[in-house]
Parts: sequence; structure tokens; C-alpha cells
Amino acid sequence: MKQHRICIVGSGYVGLVSGACLAELGHRVICVDSDKKKLALLKRGKNPIYEPGLDELLAKHRRSGNLRFAGSVAEGMRFGKAGDAEVVFIAVGTPPRPSGSADLSFVEAVAAEVAENMRSYTVLVDKSTVPVETGDWVKKTVERHNPRNIPFDVASNPEFLAEGSAVRDFLEPDRVVVGVASKRAEELLRSVYAPIKAPMIVTDIKSAELIKHASNSFLATKISFINAVAELCEKTGADVSKVAEGMGADRRIGTHFLRAGIGFGGFCFPKDLEAFYWIAQSKGYDFKLLKAVQEINEHAKAWPIRQVEAELWNLEGKSVAVLGLAFKPDTDDLRYAPSLEIIAKLQEHRVKVTVYDPVAMPKAKTLLKGVRFAKNAYDAVKGADCLLLVTEWKEFCELDFSRVKKLMRHPIILDGRNVYDGAKLRGLGFTYRSVGRP
Ligand SMILES: NC(=O)c1ccc[n+]([C@@H]2O[C@H](COP(=O)([O-])OP(=O)(O)OC[C@H]3O[C@@H](n4cnc5c(N)ncnc54)[C@H](O)[C@@H]3O)[C@@H](O)[C@H]2O)c1
Repeated sequence: MKQHRICIVGSGYVGLVSGACLAELGHRVICVDSDKKKLALLKRGKNPIYEPGLDELLAKHRRSGNLRFAGSVAEGMRFGKAGDAEVVFIAVGTPPRPSGSADLSFVEAVAAEVAENMRSYTVLVDKSTVPVETGDWVKKTVERHNPRNIPFDVASNPEFLAEGSAVRDFLEPDRVVVGVASKRAEELLRSVYAPIKAPMIVTDIKSAELIKHASNSFLATKISFINAVAELCEKTGADVSKVAEGMGADRRIGTHFLRAGIGFGGFCFPKDLEAFYWIAQSKGYDFKLLKAVQEINEHAKAWPIRQVEAELWNLEGKSVAVLGLAFKPDTDDLRYAPSLEIIAKLQEHRVKVTVYDPVAMPKAKTLLKGVRFAKNAYDAVKGADCLLLVTEWKEFCELDFSRVKKLMRHPIILDGRNVYDGAKLRGLGFTYRSVGRP
């Protein structure tokens, strides 16, 4: 395998994991970040995010010398005597604007900086999730900031990793998607990804950009679909987990993303759905299905408050223990986590909220006001009128429920992720409600 010199701009969930994994594949990588605090941590060998397997890779490649960190694109593109970066990945954030469109100003800033620092042929690869036609804009931006006419190519390489399993997802993906406009860029990217044993789908740049938005929107659609079915199950007494099992056994449908619950959150699905709707709208197509997916998700996120009211009647002064804050297990990411909205709603009703999450507590302490931060799950349920499971961390699935029952004021469990055995809990004397299951 050929070793390449790679610069990654943006060392967040995607950039840092990609950098560590590309180093693991044998490449020389420099990860750049403009956040001084984050950079200082990374340079000291500390990992600013929680992601299984990442600490080990960062330590390993700090030692191997394959992975370094820099505070500017100018520094990150230089590999000393070996030459400059052959490939620069853009992995900065593309947050939503109030209109729902993606804010691409970070992408533009990086493209300009790369252009200003290029000294030889460079492939500028967009890994951030962006709307279709961003590649055209990146190309124009590089042209404007490239007075010496250094040859370059723009490419798209959307990232499909999921937080919580990001390292494995990067190293063992279902596929690698690469959108290119030249054979030269294609060959370079094929060589970068050669050690990965997965099919590579090579397309034009626009198709690659669309693959990412379409994939995330489709997965979100599956979640909202089963949540809508769950609603019907609640109204009729059917069991959504049985319905999902029966549907998922059909290989054309599959079992993934057919688990009913209190809706999706996180940094990707909500904003990508919105951005996909917006770009379609701006091209003159009203992609109504996406709006319905969002509406169903909003309704799903309100499940906890509906159930708390149904169980506790007047909410003022009642105590609710919220277990799980991260938007999914095995991550500390709280961006667009349903927990935040649910807690805000409970607080609007003057509920006393106690929270606990195995890893997201430090981040939660900077975001949540007026809640009690418990030391562990048992401490959280002490004196609670009701336990609300928001994130299905493994340790919450394995609680000692006899102990939980003794600690609670009233033994009521609202299972927002359908992980508990209702019959068993009812047998122990709990009142138990889950999403779309009798
Ligand atoms: N988080 C995910 O699970 C995931 C998965 C696939 C794709 N994506 C997409 O990848 C992109 C990045 O997401 P993320 O979760 O890693 O975001 P993030 O916020 O964790 O990381 C982005 C990083 O870029 C840095 N940055 C911003 N501008 C910069 C600049 N000019 N120079 C250097 N660094 C700069 C920020 O300081 C930050 O550390 C987004 O478009 C996202 O939609 C995310």
C-alpha cells in the first residue's frame, strides 16, 4: 500500500475519527482545528470527545508519528521534507441556518485557505455533509484564491460513520462513496482507501453529495415511519415491536432503524433533513415527504410529556428522573438531543428534574440549568415520582429494579426506548409504559 500525506481540516467527531483511522491505515495525517482549547488538548495527547476505540488509536498514532495536530491550514498542509499534503479533507461543521439551509461559510473559509497554501497538485475533498452543488462552489472558491494556478481537483467523499461506533464504521464501512471530476483524483482517492475492504462507489460530485443527504433522510424516514405505526399501535392495542419484527423479517425492508421510540436527534438527522428539504425547495421541488418525517418526529419527541401527564396528573412539584441525556448511547454528544427539549418541557410544567448520563454529564452541566445532577442511576431515581428512560445506555438496561423500586417515591417507568420487559416490571409492581406497546 502507498502511504499518502493527508491534511484534515476540522478535528471534531468526523475529522478526528477520520484522521486517527487514516493514520491506522498507514497514512501520514495532520489534523487541523481552529478551536484553540481543542487543539491544546489534542496536542497534549487528550481526546476531547467520547468515542469507543478512539483513545487507543490516538495514543497509538501519537507514538507512531502518523498523526499530528496543527492550528492552521498552512501548517497542516506541510509534511516537511516529504512534501505537502496530497489530499486535504474538509471536515468542518455545516450547521443549520434559521431558514433550514446549511451554513457553508466554514467550508468556504477552508477552501480559500487551502487554495492560498497550495504549492503542488492537491485534491480538496469535502467530507462534511453538504447540499448538492457545493462542489461547484468549492471549485470556484479555490480558483479565486489560486493566483499561481496550481493544479487541483475538488472531490466529494461523504462520511457515513455514526457516533458511538465511529471508529468501526470508518474502518469497516458498508461502502466508500467518492464523487470525482477527474481520473487523477479518482486514482488518488482509490489509493488512500485501498486498505479498506469495502466496495467503492465512484460517481460524479453532485451524485455523491446527494447520496449523503438522501441516505440520512431515508434513515430518518424509516424511524418516523415506525414511530407513526407505534402511534397507531397505541390507539389499537397492537404491539409495535411485533409489527417491526414482522416487517423487518422481509429482506426488502430489513430490521435496521425500525425501532419505535421518542424520536431522533443528534447533529445529523434533524439538520440534514432540513437542509435536504431546503435545497429541493430552492430547486423548485417541494419534497413534502421530508416535512412529514419532521412532523412525526416532533410528535414522537412529545411522547414523554404526554405520558408523564397521563401518569402524574398535575405536574407542578412532581419529581422526574431522566436517565440518559446523549442523543444515543456510546456518545457524549448532546447536539439536538431529544433529552434537552424534553427537560425544557418538563421544567415549563415546573417539574423537579434529576438527570444522569454515564458520559454526557460534563457537557450537560454547561447546558442545563435548574436540574439536579445525580451521581448514578440509583441516585437519580431516589424519591422520584417517575423514571423516564431517554437514552438506552447498556447500564440502564441492566438496572436492579427491586432496588430502583425501593428508591422511588412511586414506581412508574416510562420507557422511551422500548428496552425493558414490561411483563417483568409489572410483575415487580411497577406501572410501565413504552412506545406503541401494550
Ligand atoms: N457527527 C457525525 O456523526 C457526522 C457523521 C457524518 C457526517 N457528519 C458531518 O461532518 C461534518 C462535521 O461534523 P462533526 O460532528 O465532526 O462536527 P464538529 O463540530 O464535531 O467538528 C467540526 C470541527 O471543525 C472545526 N472548525 C471549524 N471551522 C474551522 C476552520 N476554518 N479551520 C479549522 N477547523 C475548523 C471546529 O472547531 C470543530 O472542531 C458536518 O457537516 C456533519 O454533518 C457528521
